[in-house]
Amino acid sequence: MLKLGVLVSGGGTNLQAIMDAIDSGVITNAEVGLVISNNPGAYALKRAESRGIPAKCISPKKFENREEFHKALLQELQENKVELVVLAGFLAIPPMIVEAYPNRIINIHPSLIPSFCGVGFYGLHVHEGVLARGVKVSGATVHFVDTGTDTGPIILQKAVEVQQGDTPEVLQRRVMEEAEWKILPKAIDLIANNRVSVQNGKVVID
Ligand code: GAR
Repeated sequence: MLKLGVLVSGGGTNLQAIMDAIDSGVITNAEVGLVISNNPGAYALKRAESRGIPAKCISPKKFENREEFHKALLQELQENKVELVVLAGFLAIPPMIVEAYPNRIINIHPSLIPSFCGVGFYGLHVHEGVLARGVKVSGATVHFVDTGTDTGPIILQKAVEVQQGDTPEVLQRRVMEEAEWKILPKAIDLIANNRVSVQNGKVVID
């Protein structure tokens, strides 16, 4: 049973999709062992608690510097024997944690990488960028996390149509419903069932 540590900071709809996929059998051989938020007000924490999943806030504000914060995060993951770290709306992850979990951290990003990704492209900003450029197709990507921003090997992607009259909020919701909530659970299931490997920097699915 693969033990997941899900890192969140907001509403937690992707966390919800993971928990629902475990309940319905879309994800097999995995369990959510721990949820960590950097934001004490994250609704995601409540979603975890209501399922009886250990949920903890580790706020950077409680530490003297970023390094101490990062050490506390890593310690929490290791003490709880987390085997796969899932970034579900959590932004930057430091090299210290990436090095401790090589190809064992995945991230959901709300665009088709390499478009609309990298520094500054997160949450609603991604969809604002998509609409400003006028592209007709957007989507979501699940990828392994390396020390860059959204640069790691791509596991799964799904395209979503941009529609005339979309606002960033409307497009965000469509990308979540049609892509994120499907490909993130699917990627976890593939990893939990040992079907994903990284060869020459690229993901191969058996
Ligand atoms: C999701 O749309 C996720 O793709 C995005 O944050 C949102 C979190 O929503 N992540 C990024 O932008 C990472 N670069 P949620 O808390 O409802 O799952």
